[in-house]
Amino acid sequence: MRTKIIAGNWKMYKTPAESLAFLDAYLPAVAGHTADELLLFPSDTSLSAVLKKIEGTNVHAGAQTMHWAKEGAYTGQTSATMLKAIGATHVLLGHSEQRAYQNETYESVHLKIKAAFEVGLKPMVCVGELLDERQAGVTKDTLLSQLGAAFTGLSAENLGDLSIAYEPVWAIGTGLTASPEQANEAHGIIRNELRVMFGDAVADSMRILYGGSVKPNNSATLLALPEVDGLLIGGASLDPKSLATIVASRL
Ligand code: PGA
Repeated sequence: MRTKIIAGNWKMYKTPAESLAFLDAYLPAVAGHTADELLLFPSDTSLSAVLKKIEGTNVHAGAQTMHWAKEGAYTGQTSATMLKAIGATHVLLGHSEQRAYQNETYESVHLKIKAAFEVGLKPMVCVGELLDERQAGVTKDTLLSQLGAAFTGLSAENLGDLSIAYEPVWAIGTGLTASPEQANEAHGIIRNELRVMFGDAVADSMRILYGGSVKPNNSATLLALPEVDGLLIGGASLDPKSLATIVASRL
């Protein structure tokens, strides 16, 4: 049995004060929920405050991206070492908005995974096809090429700390959700490719989350799918009640 992960991606929302107000409502609402791993990805300016506030609770937090270098002349960037130093445990990599607007590629994601492992940060790597790719019938090819670029050459040893979020780009922030069949099929493709690349132990233990317009009214159905090991939630994670309802929908 793989422990599921329920993660909120706050994108470019919430000041530190707003983040703390969220936690004032969210932490008591999910206290005692140990069946799943609970995770938040706040913006960099809120991350320190969030990490302090969640100390000793069942909620963990990480950054929405990072640079692969340890340090250097990279204006505007944050390194894995810096994230680790403030107590972050996780980092989201390869989100489609980073790919679309910040020129993130799976070659850079590959370097970032290695940098995260070096300091003991747990990467969550996003993959997923565009609407055009789904309509052209190349969803599988797209996923395989993303996984190949991100993971080829990684050692199977560290991979227990890595999770994958399958996020069909056409479902992000659009109100469209992959059907249970579409999600199960894509997750199956990903898990099968992990089996080919790294063997049964990695493929059977790695958590593959679904993301894309997850809401309190569809979370239970998605979480019940055998191939879905958790959820990465954007819009619906901004409201503590709605995220806590999603967490509770799993019980
Ligand atoms: P959404 O975002 O839940 O608002 O669709 C998901 C994501 O971008 O991770």
